[in-house]
Amino acid sequence: MNTTSSLREDARAAADGIDEARLWRRLAEMAQIGAIPGNGVNRPALSPEDITARALLIDWAQARGYGVAVDGIGNLFLRRAGAEPDAAPVMTGSHMDSQPKGGRFDGIYGVLAGLEALEAMDEAGVRTRRPVEVVAWTNEEGGRFPPCTMGSMVFVGAKPLEAFLDVRDNAGIRLGDALAQTLAATAQAQPRAFATPVAAYVEAHIEQGPLLERSARTIGVVTGIQGMRWFNVEVSGESAHAGTAPVSLRRDALREAVAMIAALRELAADPGDVTRFTVGRVLVTPNSPNTVPSHVLFSVDLRHPDQATIERLGAAVEPLCRAHAAACTVRVTPTLRDDPTRFDAGVADLIETGAAALGLPSMRLPSGASHDAMYLSRVCPTGMIFVPCERGVSHNEAENATPADLAAGARVLAASLVELANR
Ligand code: GLV
Ligand code: MN
Ligand code: MN
Repeated sequence: MNTTSSLREDARAAADGIDEARLWRRLAEMAQIGAIPGNGVNRPALSPEDITARALLIDWAQARGYGVAVDGIGNLFLRRAGAEPDAAPVMTGSHMDSQPKGGRFDGIYGVLAGLEALEAMDEAGVRTRRPVEVVAWTNEEGGRFPPCTMGSMVFVGAKPLEAFLDVRDNAGIRLGDALAQTLAATAQAQPRAFATPVAAYVEAHIEQGPLLERSARTIGVVTGIQGMRWFNVEVSGESAHAGTAPVSLRRDALREAVAMIAALRELAADPGDVTRFTVGRVLVTPNSPNTVPSHVLFSVDLRHPDQATIERLGAAVEPLCRAHAAACTVRVTPTLRDDPTRFDAGVADLIETGAAALGLPSMRLPSGASHDAMYLSRVCPTGMIFVPCERGVSHNEAENATPADLAAGARVLAASLVELANR
């Protein structure tokens, strides 16, 4: 097959219009918002840093004349008009929030690659039938307000916004209050309803794993996302004096939480190293060296690509915690339930063909990380484009990627969006 002819002329023109230096400059500028030592970023969802990043993105969009809209959970939509203004848009995007010790690319790359794709279309004089929108989904990370992928979950109607308004961060701040502040700061954006129709969705992201780098491929065509289960486990006991309370009589919430975590680790033990089990958040009350802890909250993050396995592991969490509560009480609250997702075969083919036509080596691979694309795939044909990241390091300040690879991903994205927006 002559791959050079397999792209529409306007799709190729948009891809060729991607400006590597402009994309890199913008990534660097965004990385200053919430910059932390070690080249990292701390930009929690709905924080002052998130608000500053949103304002910068809106400035860039308005300078191009793109429409700006925001929905009730703060998802931000930048719209490049199409020839048929009422046609359902093709969407791209990702997130601008980061982990507490996050990197410069997780999320923000997909947003800025999307913006770059729109600008490349402008500069190449491309007119699409459908509008094309870049979305910055609210709170993809869930690092401040669990769970993750909250904005896309609410947008597609998988959960109502009200289910999350009372979620509190580690400082006790209510999500509803942080959201109100964020929405007030973007008052110039048009209000947008949830669940508006989407023709197709393509998200660009760094791989966050080592496969592309190891295989010397530039483009990952993502086949799907593994299943996951999140829980909050709250253990309640009684505070007591560390020097006087007999150990046999204590109701030590941390001691029992540690026993629960050890049992969960056994549950998730996997000689094949496919199962992922993480306890990443622990809040201890009163958190004093000489008081027996009265209360512990810990998170559980379990992942597996196989439906039956993630089902089995998820179902075992509450009984195991109860079995190790001793004299404490325990409350187990599921906060996220995502079954394994397979992306649309047609979108994957389109991405693969686009990469080949642009002379970029690609491979198919699954995603270990979760992404907003998972929820979008419930409402429209969806795919993802991965680009390599150094040593696969992510959720870490040292996260790194090359300007050339990031631009290559944006080129494939631009071509894919033009193709989809003309269907
Ligand atoms: C998203 O960052 C995830 O936890 O996979
Ligand atoms: Mn991400
Ligand atoms: Mn992440």
